Amino acid sequence: MSDKKASLSIDGKTLDLKVHSGTIGPDVIEVSALTGNGYFTYDPGFVSTAACESKITYIDGDKGILLHGGYPIEQLAEHSDYLETCYLLLYGALPNAAEKEKFVNKVRMHTMVNDQMSTFFKGFRRDAHPMAIMCGVVGALSAFYHDSLDITDEKHREISAIRLIAKMPTLAAMTYKYTIGQPFMYPQNHLSYSENFLHMMFGNPCEPSNVNPVLAKAMDKIFLLHADHEQNASTSTVRLAGSTGANPFACISAGIAALWGPSHGGANEAVLDMLNEIGDASRIDEYVAKAKDKDDPFRLMGFGHRVYKNFDPRAKVMKQAADEVLAELGLEDDPLLKIAKRLEQIALEDEYFIDRKLYPNVDFYSGIILKAIGIPTSMFTVIFALGRTPGWIAHWNEMISGSYRIGRPRQLYTGPATRDFVPLDKR
Ligand code: SDX
Repeated sequence: MSDKKASLSIDGKTLDLKVHSGTIGPDVIEVSALTGNGYFTYDPGFVSTAACESKITYIDGDKGILLHGGYPIEQLAEHSDYLETCYLLLYGALPNAAEKEKFVNKVRMHTMVNDQMSTFFKGFRRDAHPMAIMCGVVGALSAFYHDSLDITDEKHREISAIRLIAKMPTLAAMTYKYTIGQPFMYPQNHLSYSENFLHMMFGNPCEPSNVNPVLAKAMDKIFLLHADHEQNASTSTVRLAGSTGANPFACISAGIAALWGPSHGGANEAVLDMLNEIGDASRIDEYVAKAKDKDDPFRLMGFGHRVYKNFDPRAKVMKQAADEVLAELGLEDDPLLKIAKRLEQIALEDEYFIDRKLYPNVDFYSGIILKAIGIPTSMFTVIFALGRTPGWIAHWNEMISGSYRIGRPRQLYTGPATRDFVPLDKR
């Protein structure tokens, strides 16, 4: 940390505030000294608040840069795979061949869930939203691992991370199978992580596993592109829950709940609903106008980002992957892809979007690939949660393995000043 200082003059007093510098990115002003002087900082939505120090992921929103452990997302998407990126997020370095094989095998040996988990699904209606089920069953995992819930024990934290990464595909596929009334599929140890997921999603016990390698590769890339994204709303939720000492399964369940919102991970489902509602390129102008209308709550889903004021680098990779997957499947004339590309082109040429620096984000093209793979729209945010699990658990582990305090923000109070109680007959 540097020895830079910032001075704040207020009410005739000058407060010296420490300034800290990171490896790259903006310096931060430590404001804890304000408390002893009768002030809080005020930053609704945490637009310019650094809540923690982290070594995991770096984003430069103006330049459209995303690094995991210093590696650009474009290079990881091109040359790495999802489990290797999980390793990078958890341990801060790319694994060598032996480390990778050991990690992949560890994950493979934890893909099954306790058989009693299957009874939890029966409590849900078949038409329950898959994210409602995932919030429940992921939190319920904590009921099965009493032997490894000591968060002060590094080994317990590591096995919990492995279990969560390994079991999320199994639980996600069970969630899907439950909603369509098909039997659950067991993971197969001879399959890769992403092949296994598609096997559990679309396989059935009456036929041998038959996973399309092109779709498995696309699935792996989608998981990789969602793996982590700094202090976004769901990751901040996981950190806040973790700061109370809650177990990792409960913290990830809290992250799933936060991700569900349409402003966050729920946007991928909302993009497909929007493209289906637009229905035809001839109606794009009508919807762009709605998105610009202050009196209309409609927003162009998959556009805009709190941090990126340039292209989301993940969206560029996702767009290329969408072209590749649909071409491989002979779906390059997919009408929704055409509408998406035309919508992007129109929006990027429209001053409303240019002035507000609204570009396509990670959710804009992902749904088109997921639909081509055969995943129903209602499962899109579950896929996002599955992909984001290593990021959530890496941030949780980074916080718990260091020094931390319970997160407890304050407020600007604008309610009534102190007043005496009024008896009922005097009101
Ligand atoms: C994710 O944080 C992360 O990193 C998240 C994520 C991750 O990997 O974890 O990247 C994943 O959540 C991506 C974002 C997915 N959400 C959507 O695609 C939903 C649509 N986009 C938005 O609702 C919005 O852009 C947000 C929520 C993403 C960002 O909201 P901000 O930063 O609070 O910005 P804002 O709402 O204050 O908007 C600024 C201006 C406003 O106009 P003015 O009042 O200044 O005139 O831009 C407008 C907004 O009305 N605007 C949009 C818009 N997004 C912002 N107008 C039309 N369509 C949109 N999509």
